[in-house]
Amino acid sequence: MTSLLANSLKLGTRRAWREGRVWGSKMFPQRGTAKVLSDTSVLAASRATPFEGFADLCAETEQETLAVSRLLLEATAGLATPLPEVVRHIVASGGKRLRSRLLIASAKLLGARGQEGVRQEGILQEETLKETIFLGGAVEAIHCASLLHDDVVDGSKMRRGLPAAHRVWGAQASVLVGDFLFASAFELICRQSPREILTLLSQTALRLTQGEVRQLYSAHALLMTADDSLEIVRDKTGALFRAATMSAALVMRASPQEQRALALFGERFGIGYQLVDDMLDYLGESKMLGKRRGDDLRDGKVTYPLVLCLARSDARQRRRIEQLLARSDCADGQVDEVARLMRKTGCFDDCAALAKKTLEEGAAALEGIGDARLRGVLQRTCLASLSRLS
Ligand code: FPP
Ligand code: MG
Repeated sequence: MTSLLANSLKLGTRRAWREGRVWGSKMFPQRGTAKVLSDTSVLAASRATPFEGFADLCAETEQETLAVSRLLLEATAGLATPLPEVVRHIVASGGKRLRSRLLIASAKLLGARGQEGVRQEGILQEETLKETIFLGGAVEAIHCASLLHDDVVDGSKMRRGLPAAHRVWGAQASVLVGDFLFASAFELICRQSPREILTLLSQTALRLTQGEVRQLYSAHALLMTADDSLEIVRDKTGALFRAATMSAALVMRASPQEQRALALFGERFGIGYQLVDDMLDYLGESKMLGKRRGDDLRDGKVTYPLVLCLARSDARQRRRIEQLLARSDCADGQVDEVARLMRKTGCFDDCAALAKKTLEEGAAALEGIGDARLRGVLQRTCLASLSRLS
């Protein structure tokens, strides 16, 4: 699969790609510059501690996460420009490997429960470890592919402080490398995992795409309800978190009760995490976010805090929000205007309360599951997602 895609990218322009002549050509206009990232800087990016309360999960999953990041980099070794460059760029700007870290830590959580041969002291036996790393790679590859596509769809300029890949290599290259990563994910799954994991991750990819499509068509639609927006959050973010923790349960041959617990933990974590993200889009600082504050408003995205705000606004305020949603060039002051209204009408408080409740449900789902120490790490990480707001 890998070589098929790579070969198709090489067709026709192979020489030009190699020589880097495509930059500045009519077909692939250069829209920016980015230095080619070294392995060390890409791997260091995944080591960064992005929010308080995350350090323990990082420490528990350090070695395996490095192996996951290496797997993504190795997938493009020797392939034609710009596959390695774009993959490096998105792996670095895709960040902290939260989803694969959750998968690895969940596998260890079950590995420490002292039953059967594969479960011992949180150390995964060789074959289980290999499968866990392949699946971690698959989950991250799906995540990175979705970010490459999402930045094209949203027209985003920055991701994690780096220019979005499509601004450097163009939308065509970004979409195709996203396809490459997406295909790589399924190649990794097929290496060692049973059909039920393949089914889980295929269904997850469908849900991610449905969530993104629904969000796209919700743009400028003021009829969206709070439930609609929460369903989008569940599909576009909750589904992949859920797939990560659920895959771990399947790898570890968990009981149906453990599978349900881990699935619920992952889903609630993902939903709570995205709700915090949606608030930060209005409340955060561009530097901390690594992207411009207020982009959801500029993209016409009716996220959960905005749904609440619309429902609590009078007709004049709603008209004003509608006007701002329809423009893609809102100034920071106009984003502040909406944020002030959100604060005044209690939307941030209520959104934060829902995020807190959802994250608490996630943490509670793990009660009684696996090793107590690792359970504590996973539960604390989930609850700490809220601290990104402070
Ligand atoms: C980021 O959301 C985007 C997602 C969580 C999912 C994107 C999904 C797709 C593009 C469809 C599926 C694609 C594949 C390859 C399976 P956001 O825009 O709210 O966050 P951001 O501010 O980080 O961009
Ligand atoms: Mg986006």
